[in-house]
Amino acid sequence: MERIVLPELLDVLPPQDESALRSRRDLRRLNAWMRHPRVMARVLRKNLTEQGARQIVELGAGDGHFLLSVARRLRGIWPGAQATLVDQLDALDPQMCEQFNRLGWRVHAETAEASEWLRQVPPNTTGAVISNLFLHQFETEQLAELLRLASRSSRVVIALEPRRSWLPRLCGRLLWLIGCGPVTRHDGRISIRAGFAGSELSALWPDKKNWELVERPVGLFSHLFIARRKD
Ligand SMILES: C[S@@+](CC[C@H](N)C(=O)[O-])C[C@H]1O[C@@H](n2cnc3c(N)ncnc32)[C@H](O)[C@@H]1O
Repeated sequence: MERIVLPELLDVLPPQDESALRSRRDLRRLNAWMRHPRVMARVLRKNLTEQGARQIVELGAGDGHFLLSVARRLRGIWPGAQATLVDQLDALDPQMCEQFNRLGWRVHAETAEASEWLRQVPPNTTGAVISNLFLHQFETEQLAELLRLASRSSRVVIALEPRRSWLPRLCGRLLWLIGCGPVTRHDGRISIRAGFAGSELSALWPDKKNWELVERPVGLFSHLFIARRKD
C-alpha cells in the first residue's frame, strides 16, 4: 500500500474548539486501546537506563495526556525525570503540570514547530526524543530532516505510529464503534494511510553506523521505531 500524507483536521482546528477537544479525548482512548503508553514506558525503561539521562522531549505532545500515562507507568522508578512537551499548538491540558509534579516529574511546554525547536537545541542535551502518532504527518523529505535533528540532540529516539496495513485500515473505518467523533474518524483514516511499514523509518536514519535501529510491528495496529546510540 502506497504511503499518502494528507492534512489532518486536528492540526488546524483551534485547540479550544469543541471538536478538537473531543478528538484529543478520543486519542486518549485510542492510545489506551492500542496500549501505546504501556509500550512506550517499557521501551523507555529498557533503552534509557542512565539516571542522568532521564530527560525526555516529546514531539507533537498534544494535550500531554499520552506522556502522563507513560509517567504513571514509570511511577516510583523514575523520580526526578524531566520532560519537555513540544507542540505547534498550545493544546496542553492546564492540569497537566501539577499531575506530573505529583509523580515527581518536572515538565514544561514549548509551543513550536518540531523541527524548528530541535534546530535550536544544543547537540547531545537530551536523553530521549519520543513521539506518539506524530511522524506519519510528514512527507519523506521533512521526515528525514526531523530524524536527523532528533539524532543530533539525543541518545535515544522512539516513535509509535500507525501501521500501514490492511487490519488497521479496516478497523480505522470502525472508529465510530468506540465512540470516536468526526475529527478522529477523518484523521484516523488519513493517519493509517500515512503510517509506516517494514523499515521505512530506518531507511531515513542519517547515521546507521553509530546507531542501533529496531523497527517492527507492535500489537495489532502499530509500528514501533527505536534508535539508540551505540557508544
Ligand atoms: C495526532 S496528534 C497526537 C498527539 C499526542 N502525541 C497524543 O498521542 O495524544 C498530533 C499532534 O502533533 C502536533 N503537530 C503536528 N504537526 C506538528 C509540527 N510540525 N510541529 C509540532 N507539532 C505538530 C499537532 O498539533 C497534534 O497535537
